[in-house]
Amino acid sequence: MSGQRENWGSKIGLIFAMAGNAIGLGNFWRFPYQAASNGGGAFMIPYLVALVVLGIPVMLVEWNLGRYGGRYGHGTLGPMVYLQAREGLKPKKAIILASLAGMLAFGVTLLVNSYYNHIIGWTLGYSYLSLTGGYMDASKSTAEVFVSYVQNPVMVFTFWIIALTGLALAVMRGVQKGIEAWAKLMMPVLYVFGIILAIRALTIGSPVNPDWSSMKGLNYIWNPDFSKLNWKSAVAAAGQIFFTLSIGMGIICNYASYLKPDDDVVVSSFATISLNEFAEVILGGTAVIPIAYAFLGPDGVGQGVGLSFIALPNVFRSMSGGQIFGALWFLLLFFAGFTSAIAMYNYLTALVEEDLGMERKKAAWLVFFAYVIVGLPVGLETVLTKTADLVYLTELDNWVGVYLLIVLGLLEIIAVAWFMGDKALEEMNRGGIWQIPSWFFNVFHKTLTPLVAAILLFFSTIDYIKAGYFKAIPDFVAGSPQLIPWVNGARIVLFAVLIFGFVQSYKSISTKYKKEIEDNEVSIRA
Ligand code: PHE
Repeated sequence: MSGQRENWGSKIGLIFAMAGNAIGLGNFWRFPYQAASNGGGAFMIPYLVALVVLGIPVMLVEWNLGRYGGRYGHGTLGPMVYLQAREGLKPKKAIILASLAGMLAFGVTLLVNSYYNHIIGWTLGYSYLSLTGGYMDASKSTAEVFVSYVQNPVMVFTFWIIALTGLALAVMRGVQKGIEAWAKLMMPVLYVFGIILAIRALTIGSPVNPDWSSMKGLNYIWNPDFSKLNWKSAVAAAGQIFFTLSIGMGIICNYASYLKPDDDVVVSSFATISLNEFAEVILGGTAVIPIAYAFLGPDGVGQGVGLSFIALPNVFRSMSGGQIFGALWFLLLFFAGFTSAIAMYNYLTALVEEDLGMERKKAAWLVFFAYVIVGLPVGLETVLTKTADLVYLTELDNWVGVYLLIVLGLLEIIAVAWFMGDKALEEMNRGGIWQIPSWFFNVFHKTLTPLVAAILLFFSTIDYIKAGYFKAIPDFVAGSPQLIPWVNGARIVLFAVLIFGFVQSYKSISTKYKKEIEDNEVSIRA
C-alpha cells in the first residue's frame, strides 16, 4: 500500500507547500479584523499564549500523526489517529476515537472549503474590479459595491468556478507537480506583495486626519492593554491560532503523510509556524491595520468582517496608485487562499483515492463536484435572498471554522500524548535535527495543551449559548425571518456531513484493520 504513495520532491518545496497550507485568508482577511474587533492590544496577549500552549504542540502532533500514518499508506486522519490510539486503547475503543477524528476532518475539509472557495472567488473578482476600476466610482459606497457583488450571480459564480477549476487542475497533477509546483510559485510572490503593501502602509503618514497616522495604527495592535483582557477575546485569539495554522482539521497531517519515514518533523513544524506567523503578524498586521487606521481612524479599523472587502477599497479609492495597490492586495489574498484550499481539496482527494481506490485524476473531479454541490447554497443565498448577511456561511463558519477545530485538536492530542504516550515522543523525534525534550512533552502535550483546549471549549460553549447559536432560531437571524431556512439548512447539511463522515471513517478503518479489530488485539505493523 505504502509503496505507491508520492513523496515531496524537495525540502524547500515541502516547506513552501506547508507554508501555503497554513498561510491563508486567515492571515490577511481574518486576523486583522479579529485583532481589531477584540481590542487590538488586548488580543495579542492571549494570541501569543495560545500560540505556545496550543499552536506549537498541536502542530508537532499533526506532523507526527501524518508521517506515521503515511508509513502505513494513509493520507486521512481516521486511520492515522487509530494507529496511535491503539497503543494505549484496545482496538475496539481506538476505532471509536479515530472515527470521531476522521468524521471531524471530513466535515471541516468539506464544509470550510465550501465557503472558503467562494471567498477565494471574491478575491479574484475584486482583483479584476481593482484593475478595471470597478469600485473607484465614489458615487457608490464600497459597502454598496460589495452588496451588489455578492448579489450578482455572474460575478459570484464565474469567479467561484474559475477558482474551483484551478484547484482541480492543481490537485489532479499530484503532490510534486501540482501542490508543490504551485506553492513554489505563489508563496514567494505572496511575500513580495505583502512586503510592498507593508512598506506602503508604513510610509503613508496621516493622509486624512493628523491624529490618524499609520504608525499609530501599529501601536493599536502592539500596545498590550491588560485592562481589556476578557474570555471573549481569549477564545477568539485561540480560535484564530487554530484557524491560521490549519490545525485541528487534518490537512497538516495529510501533507505530512507524503514525508519519507525519517524526514525531520520537528524543525519543519517550527519552520511552518514561523513562516505563518511572519505572514500573519508582520505582514497581515502591518499591511492592513495601519493602512485602515490611517484612512478610517480607530473606529474604522474595528469594523469587523468588512475590513478587507469594504473598508480597504475605500482606502484604495483615495490613495494614489490605488488601483495597482488594490490589485496587489486582492491577488495576495487570492494566492493565500488558493494554496490553503488546495490542502483541503487534497485531503478529500486522498480520501477518495485511499478508500474508493480511484485514481487521482478521477478522484479530483469527484471532489470538484462535491464542492460544487456544497458550495451552491453559499452562492445562492445572497443571489436569491437579495441580502448580504451571509447567514448560511456564518452558521457553518461558527461550527466548522472555529469550534470543531478545537474539538479535533483535543482528540488528536489525547490519542497521541495520552494513548501513544512516550512512544509518540520517540516517534516525533526520529530523524529530527532538533529534539523535543521530554519535559516539554510532559508539560505541554500531556498536561497544559489538553487542559487549555478543554477549558477553551467550555468557555466557547458558554459564549455560543450566550450568542444564541444553540437556539432553534439563533439571535443573528431573529430579525430576518426569510433567512431562518438558510441557517437551518446549514445545520442540516452539517449534521448530514458529520454522520456520513463518521460512518465513512469507521468503515475505512475497520476494513483496513479488520483482523485486529475483530480480535481486539494489535497485530498489524508496518
Ligand atoms: N490556515 C489557513 C488560513 O489561515 C487555511 C484554513 C483555515 C483552512 C481554516 C481551513 C480552515 O486561511
